[in-house]
Amino acid sequence: VHVIVVCGGSGAEHDVSIASADSILQHLDASVYRATRLVIGHDGRWFHDGEALPGLSAAVVMLEAADVVFPVIHGTGGEDGTLAALLDLCAVPYVGPGLRAGAVSMDKHLTKLLARDAGVRVAPGVLLDSREPDVLDSVPGDLDTPLFVKPDQEGSSFGVSRVTDLDELEKAVALAAEFDRYVLVEKEVEGREIDIAVLERPDGSLSVSAPLEIRVGSGAFFDTDAKYADGGAEFLVPAPISDEWADRLRRTSLLLFGLLGCTGLARLDYFVDDLGEPILNEINVVPGLTSHSQVPRMFQAQGIGYPELLDILIRTAMA
Ligand code: DAL
Ligand code: MG
Repeated sequence: VHVIVVCGGSGAEHDVSIASADSILQHLDASVYRATRLVIGHDGRWFHDGEALPGLSAAVVMLEAADVVFPVIHGTGGEDGTLAALLDLCAVPYVGPGLRAGAVSMDKHLTKLLARDAGVRVAPGVLLDSREPDVLDSVPGDLDTPLFVKPDQEGSSFGVSRVTDLDELEKAVALAAEFDRYVLVEKEVEGREIDIAVLERPDGSLSVSAPLEIRVGSGAFFDTDAKYADGGAEFLVPAPISDEWADRLRRTSLLLFGLLGCTGLARLDYFVDDLGEPILNEINVVPGLTSHSQVPRMFQAQGIGYPELLDILIRTAMA
């Protein structure tokens, strides 16, 4: 089976994507899969074996000849549906979400609106258009600190600040606006940070992973450094929670997976309050896939090793 892994991208998560792709290429079962890697550079050019392809059409010719494509570009220009749309037009099967699930889940505010409409709790917050004059006037007075300020469409916590003093808000909004015109200002949620993933099987059935709890030091949050520096955060998997709490997370995640039209895989990130109620933070449809990322660890805890996880993802895409 000839698999093309597409990675990199022109967005902020370029290096994270390369790390995910490296792990995928190392763990694919070589007796079944012949893998080729295509890298999209920071400048948007496509590269194969370190050589720039003459243009997008050359990349399309390669993609059309693959048996299946494994897109692993996090964020802008990939996960947001861009790559799914290209692969739909190439009529080649691919791992993961289509255009709709990608575009919706990449938009944190839109995801929250859909989740809230379905009865799932989300953090109170407001979406700002950073191009509006006097943009801070749109932040309601009752949205009190601590606040989280985030680019609406970004990943890996790039551009995210925790604001404890309203004097810092302007700077935080300006930082987030470097990544996305639209900026989300949210009230900090008090709760434990727990992620869970949904995996589609080749027969269309869905498996839910073990929940994983993220512990960071007090006063800190799971920022870019904590995500990618050794020892920046501790993962507890399975999360030490009751069966009842885990079951609520499972049911909520299956509901949201369907609502967004997800396919293949998604990692859903929650805060869980002291009554066990899940408060959705966000949904990642191309989650980090290095062997030490959350998703491989969550399935490993259920006896699904990383090579098997990759095999399920690819066979589901081809089914
Ligand atoms: N956006 C990063 C890759 C994640 O969600 O894992
Ligand atoms: Mg994310």
